[in-house]
Amino acid sequence: MFNNPHLILDSSAAPEPGSITWRSPSNIAIIKYWGKYGIQLPKNPSLSLTLASSCTDTNLEYSFKDDMPDGQIDLEFYFHQEENEAFRKKVLEFLKSLLPVFPFLSQLNLTVRTGNSFPHSAGIASSASAMSALALCLCSLEDKLFGTLRDQEVFDRKASYLARLGSGSACRSVFPHAAVWGETTHVKGSSNEYAVPVGNQIHEVFRNYHDDILIVSRAEKAVSSRAGHALMDGNPYAEPRYAQARVRLEALLHAMKTGDLETFGKIAEDEAMTLHALMMCSNPSYTLIRPDTLAIIEKVKQYRADTGHPVYFTLDAGPNVHLLYPGEIVHDVRAFIDEHLLEHCEDNYVQQDWVGEGPEEL
Ligand code: PMV
Repeated sequence: MFNNPHLILDSSAAPEPGSITWRSPSNIAIIKYWGKYGIQLPKNPSLSLTLASSCTDTNLEYSFKDDMPDGQIDLEFYFHQEENEAFRKKVLEFLKSLLPVFPFLSQLNLTVRTGNSFPHSAGIASSASAMSALALCLCSLEDKLFGTLRDQEVFDRKASYLARLGSGSACRSVFPHAAVWGETTHVKGSSNEYAVPVGNQIHEVFRNYHDDILIVSRAEKAVSSRAGHALMDGNPYAEPRYAQARVRLEALLHAMKTGDLETFGKIAEDEAMTLHALMMCSNPSYTLIRPDTLAIIEKVKQYRADTGHPVYFTLDAGPNVHLLYPGEIVHDVRAFIDEHLLEHCEDNYVQQDWVGEGPEEL
């Protein structure tokens, strides 16, 4: 939908070398995307909160190739200052797939330098922050070279579309506070191709809202998200699940508009349990949660019952627990984490995060 054969540089007016840097955050889905079709298109709409402290910084340097155009993409790649051939190959494949969108990429020498704000192999997925940061760099590059993305809405939509092609859920990271990806009659302009912002439709309690990520295990997942999505195709509960996600999305949007923390939290927890139940009844079945995941969940429920504090959990496709709560109780919740939950975390590691303002160009 964004293919454009006219985005070709005129060699007689070759651009000066330049550099672009974006910082882009991760996001946490409250309504989960699990199951896809076609090229990273979602079987149901999802809604996420945009995070702030878990992010990727990506710098893209470019210069015009002096040699004859050969249709190839020339890429150097550094992750945390070190060359990384495995990542380079992945990014190169991604850029090649984008040549119909950005034909000028084969006319440039490109260097990508990227790094995450959280420790490597912390058990925190970086694909959403990494792919959105790269997509934003590419859109800025197009705009610098051709002036074609001046309109902020058009820019964001294209960045979200490209991020989606890199890693589905990454498309939601482009927007501040909260975003919806996937067609739904409840969000105007929503699309399966890109996410749309809904941050301006949510109660202020969700703008000062925390997500502390309790790292139960840093180990790489036994079953990747890609394989997990694919297993939904044979899952007997798939269709009812997609229908359920639509119903829950409508209820969640209402709760977020009105600031109803309890309904929000109930849906968040139900979605987390549904996601992992779907894994357990896939064929073959698998489990990504660990005994410590369940121990934390039980303690969170007990803490809520004892204190009345609206603290809820969600899970991603892994064993780590995201603790969700409003900013006004941060001191009490952090004390609870230190006293009762750290013992379940690998190396006592917790990534403190909160709802953020979205990506920024540095
Ligand atoms: O974007 P992917 O293909 O890594 O899938 C992400 C799936 C979940 O994180 C489990 C849910 C979501 O919507 O982010």
